[in-house]
Amino acid sequence: MPEAMRVLRGPVLTYTGDPFRSGLEDTMVHESDAVVAMADGRITHFGPADRVLPQLPKGTAVERFGPDSLIMAGFIDCHVHYPQTEIIGACGKQLIDWLNTYTFVAEQRYKDARYSAEVADVFLKECVRNGVTSASVYCTVHPQSVDAFFEQAGKYGMRMIAGKVLMNRNAPEALLDTTKQGYDDSKKLIEKWHGRGRMLYAITPRFAATSTPDQLEATGALKKEHPDCFVQSHVSENRGEVAWVRELFPESKGYLDVYDRFGLLGRRVIHGHGIWLTEDELKRCHETGTAIAHCPTSNFFLGSGYLDVHNAMKKERPVRVGLATDLGAGTSFSILQTMNEAYKAAQLNGHALSAGHAFYLATRGTAHALYLEDRIGSIGVGMEADVTVLDLASTPIIDFRMKRATDLEERLFIQMTMADDRAVLATFVAGKPVYRRPAQQFA
Ligand code: GUN
Ligand code: ZN
Repeated sequence: MPEAMRVLRGPVLTYTGDPFRSGLEDTMVHESDAVVAMADGRITHFGPADRVLPQLPKGTAVERFGPDSLIMAGFIDCHVHYPQTEIIGACGKQLIDWLNTYTFVAEQRYKDARYSAEVADVFLKECVRNGVTSASVYCTVHPQSVDAFFEQAGKYGMRMIAGKVLMNRNAPEALLDTTKQGYDDSKKLIEKWHGRGRMLYAITPRFAATSTPDQLEATGALKKEHPDCFVQSHVSENRGEVAWVRELFPESKGYLDVYDRFGLLGRRVIHGHGIWLTEDELKRCHETGTAIAHCPTSNFFLGSGYLDVHNAMKKERPVRVGLATDLGAGTSFSILQTMNEAYKAAQLNGHALSAGHAFYLATRGTAHALYLEDRIGSIGVGMEADVTVLDLASTPIIDFRMKRATDLEERLFIQMTMADDRAVLATFVAGKPVYRRPAQQFA
């Protein structure tokens, strides 16, 4: 039986293309009084209320959101580690020390499937509380950490990408697989999860330093055998790390070339960070269609640096860039706060990231980086019905500030500078409500 239609009415923001290439005028759509209708997991109607309302079946209930709200596609997190939820804000180290001191200790706990499921549930609840409806997620080396994650995500019906970490050196014994075990486990997980419901599998070599050449070769073979699967890893995040990878792979031209040699660049390949990639390496990302996940809260937290997103996406050889939290090195589940830090990273590179561009990156831009922009990341008929509704006056001071804003860019900019999880009024996944903000009250 077809599902009942759910209809939202209010201001809508969405994108029809890439403003970094074609400008905001041609790609950003803002309707001050629009209707979004959803049924069977998809958007069935979208447009100005006066045009769309008469097309709906008589008596359809309409949920109304006021002029101080904004209906938009759910946020997408391009790179995040769910098992690191428990180490957010672990202080005082740069990448390699941070991995050894906190990450590799915490990740050992995910041998336990029950524990994995508990943390996955905390993680997913926090995602929807922040309006995040899809993500590309690292589990741990344990296959059971992947099963637990997909089982929990399945309860919400979310479009999630995730995979088992592959690593066979330079980490504690308890976190190492072998080339053969890692390959076999990944293969089984792909068969079990890739394309089941809305789940997609990511082959996940952690980074070049924790895999032998032999394991990277097996990883490249997996991608060749399953070209539709994703590959996720890390590249050129920290200067010490870049130097270490050069030592480990002296025959390679540089860090990115390590992945290139093993067939780990291309469509549906996402490498986290990319801060220190050279012009030649960015060119290679462009040529191969490889995406970079921009993780500004993490990059500032670990003192890694700040990606020049405008340079990465420049028109002459655009690289696909998605926006990401990279929790637990990242410090916030809030994509609004991630946009805030992306703005500061851009400033340090001599560019001001407009709110229009930042909201694009957080939605359709990340969907594009993931080769999923035909399904998620925008509001349009036929798109999957993952929707976030923001309250644009979510705190007294934001309300005060918004009353003095003169145009849409300023209103959006205030949100990305000042707002956070408190701004998320409601989150819908596949057309169903999965989160509603509790009422706020003064005592
Ligand atoms: N490089 C390799 N593993 C990791 C990780 O877990 N987090 C970050 N930020 N960088 C990495
Ligand atoms: Zn990461």
